[in-house]
Amino acid sequence: MRVAIVGQGYVGTAVGVAAHNVGHEVVGIEIDSKKLNSLKNSLRYPISEDYTAVSGAEIVVIAVPTPLNDNREPDLSFIKIACESLKPRLSDSVLIINESTSFPGTLRNVIAPILGEGHLYASAPERVDPANEKWGITNTPRLVAGLSPEATSKAVKFYKSFCKEVVEVSTPEVAEAAKLFENTFRQVNIALVNEFAQIADALNISTFETLEAAATKPYGFMSFMQSVGVGGHCIPVDPSYLSFAAEKAGVEAAFINLANNVNAGMPRYVASRIAGLLGGSVEGKKIQVAGISYKADVSDTRESPALALIETLKEMGALVSWHDEIVGEFGGESSKPLAEVDLGVIATAHSGVDYGPWKNSGVMVIDVSTSANTGWPKFL
Ligand SMILES: NC(=O)c1ccc[n+]([C@@H]2O[C@H](COP(=O)([O-])OP(=O)(O)OC[C@H]3O[C@@H](n4cnc5c(N)ncnc54)[C@H](O)[C@@H]3O)[C@@H](O)[C@H]2O)c1
Repeated sequence: MRVAIVGQGYVGTAVGVAAHNVGHEVVGIEIDSKKLNSLKNSLRYPISEDYTAVSGAEIVVIAVPTPLNDNREPDLSFIKIACESLKPRLSDSVLIINESTSFPGTLRNVIAPILGEGHLYASAPERVDPANEKWGITNTPRLVAGLSPEATSKAVKFYKSFCKEVVEVSTPEVAEAAKLFENTFRQVNIALVNEFAQIADALNISTFETLEAAATKPYGFMSFMQSVGVGGHCIPVDPSYLSFAAEKAGVEAAFINLANNVNAGMPRYVASRIAGLLGGSVEGKKIQVAGISYKADVSDTRESPALALIETLKEMGALVSWHDEIVGEFGGESSKPLAEVDLGVIATAHSGVDYGPWKNSGVMVIDVSTSANTGWPKFL
C-alpha cells in the first residue's frame, strides 16, 4: 500500500519503519526542517516537508503532537493544521488513520469534518513505549476502529501487515477512550504510590520494602514505583484529555485531578526532604542531579519532573548542576561531569552511568529514580 505518515517523531517514525519493513511504499511528512535533515540519512524511506508527497497515497496516518495549552487543556492545533495541509492533496477514498492521542470524538468531530466526505476514517491510537525492549510496535496489540465498516476493515488489514495482534473495537470513540484510560490508570496508580511514600515516611516505614511486600500477593495487585513525579508526553498529559472530555460532559474527574496534583507536588516534596537532609535548608548548598530526562535511556525532557526538582531547588537557593550525557544540552546549560557536591540526587537512572566520582569522594547520594537498582538505597 502507498502510505503517507504525517509527523516524523517517535510515533511517526516507528510506524513508518514498521510499514516500510513489510513492503509498504512509505513517505513521511515532517514540517520541522531540523528534524527532517537529521532523519533523512537514518530512515530507509523518503521524508519531505512538502505535502504534495501525499498525493497518490491510499493511506494517510496522522502522528502529530497533542500537548496541553497553558491552561493545561487539550491543544489540537497540530492536528487541525495537519488536516488543513492534507485537505487539498488527498486523492478520493483515502483511508485517514489518526494515531495521535486525543479525547473521544476527535476523529469524528474534528478530523473528518475538516477533511470532508469521500474518505474513510479510522482511529488506531499508538501505544509505543520508548526504550521498552520487550514491547514494541509489532508485538503490542493495536486497537482499531473506523467510522464505517469499510474503514475498519481496511485499517485492520493495514495494521495486520506489521502487528501481531489487532483488536477491533466498535467505534473510534472506544479506541480513543481506551488509550486515555490506559495512561490514566498509570497516572492514578503512580500518584497513589507517591502519596503512600509520603505517608510511609511520616510513619517511619520503608516505602520500597512495603511495596515489595505487597507485590508478593499473586492476584489483585500491580506494582508501581514511587518517584520524583511523572514526565513525558503521555502520563502527565493524556489524563487531562480525559478530564477535559469528562468536564465537557458534566462529570467531575476527581481521581484524575487529584492524581495530577499529587504527582505535580512530588518535586517540591522531594526538595523539602532534601532540605531536611541538609540541616533544614538548601541555601548555598551544591546539589547535582543525575538524569534529567523523564525516563531512563531516552533523551526526551518533556514534562520531566527532574527539571521541576532542579527549578524548585534553585528557587530555594541551592547551587544546582546536572549530569545527563544522553540529554547533553538543556535550557542553555550543558551536562557537567559528576563532581564532589553536598548532595547527589539520582532523578533518572540511565544505564551505564559511572557513579564512581560520587562514590570515591564520599558524596551523600539519594536515589529517587524508578530504576530497580542503582546501588544506592531508595530515598522515597
Ligand atoms: N512518544 C510516545 O511515547 C507516544 C506514545 C503513544 C502515543 N503518542 C502520541 O502520538 C502523537 C505524536 O507523539 P510523538 O511523541 O511522536 O511526538 P513528536 O513531537 O515526537 O513528533 C511529532 C512530529 O510531528 C511533527 N509535526 C507537527 N505538526 C506537523 C504538521 N502539520 N505536518 C507534519 N509534521 C508535523 C513535529 O515536528 C514532530 O516531529 C501524540 O498525540 C502523542 O500523544 C506518543
